[in-house]
Amino acid sequence: MSTYVVVGLQYGDEGKGKITDVLSAKSDYVVRYQGGNNAGHTVHADFPYHILLDTYREEAAGNGKIGTTKRGIGPCYEDKFSRCGIRAIDLLHPEILKTKLEKNIKDKNIQFEKVFNKPTLDFDTVYNQYLEFGKTIGHRIIDSVTEINDAIAKDKTVLFEGAQALMLDVDFGTYPFVTSSSPSTGGVCSGAGVPPTSLKNLIGVTKAYCTRVGNGPFLTELDDAQGEKIRAIGHEFGATTGRPRRCGWLDLVALKHACTINGINHLVVTKLDVLSGFETIKVCTAYKDKNETQYSHHTALTEELYDLEPVYKSLDGWTEDISSATKLSDLPQNAQKYLQFMQDFLSIDLYLVSVGPDRAQNIITKELF
Ligand code: IMO
Ligand code: MG
Repeated sequence: MSTYVVVGLQYGDEGKGKITDVLSAKSDYVVRYQGGNNAGHTVHADFPYHILLDTYREEAAGNGKIGTTKRGIGPCYEDKFSRCGIRAIDLLHPEILKTKLEKNIKDKNIQFEKVFNKPTLDFDTVYNQYLEFGKTIGHRIIDSVTEINDAIAKDKTVLFEGAQALMLDVDFGTYPFVTSSSPSTGGVCSGAGVPPTSLKNLIGVTKAYCTRVGNGPFLTELDDAQGEKIRAIGHEFGATTGRPRRCGWLDLVALKHACTINGINHLVVTKLDVLSGFETIKVCTAYKDKNETQYSHHTALTEELYDLEPVYKSLDGWTEDISSATKLSDLPQNAQKYLQFMQDFLSIDLYLVSVGPDRAQNIITKELF
């Protein structure tokens, strides 16, 4: 059985796409199992009323807004869970589509008009647009559950690619500042219909530091020149929305939380090259409250995170350019120590370290099967 799952361990943008790129060369299937075009690299299949609802709600929320990508992801998942959602297969059945769309447009128009004081949508326009979508992508709508499970049974190599990351997971992230799906390895089972026993290589991707776009707590955020330096060197601007990303040190408490829930057995560290030239590199190893009481676990009470502070361990940095390293021993001693510290804290072995944006700029430490 050769299955790989690639998931993000922080707040998204860890470089999952780069790892997918490396692994897809030897994969027969690449499967996206959750999320939508909020992720940095996907196709467009917009639902118009979800996008409008997302946008109007964020506008109305003022300071309380989540900072979504305004791609309609939340409203779309809401429809799914309130059981009125339109599914891909409905596009192939115009009468079913019509019945469902009529009800949805009626409900959404009431909200547009009465709650947000905005123009309503015309049913015929949307319906015709969706009939066209059905014609364009209809041949690509398949019984994916059968196809993927059959492929696994035939020992094909299947790569599951997560979008977003564990700290944006609707259940285990910093709720409500999360996305609306399950970016965890568990999301593969509920999203693609593949059983847990079929998942073998669980690959977690983290940056060598931490970034976040959108609102929500971020304990190790650097609101200073060092944060600016990371943003500039790491080109930390959102791929989907162009927003500057918030930057900070690595949070090992959150990372451990993410690795535990995902059951990660191979660790990927990206953008290590960005840290070249920092005299000292800090890593958060615990949280502490006002009374100096320390905590080694993440908390489900998001509000509490704002009152906690990171407890840091300082590690010596390095100045060398590491962008052409191809094996761990090519790295300066202090870079090796930094990676070792992470592995020891998490009790997970490294699979890959990315040392530059190019697809070849990787240190691969072992073969996966
Ligand atoms: P990739 O796949 C980073 C964030 C948004 C916001 C929150 C909710 O590139 O890692 P949503 O539009 O999903 O309702 O927004 O989630 N967010 C991401 N942040 N990378 C992503 O995708 C993200 N997708 C959503 O900024 O805080
Ligand atoms: Mg992104």
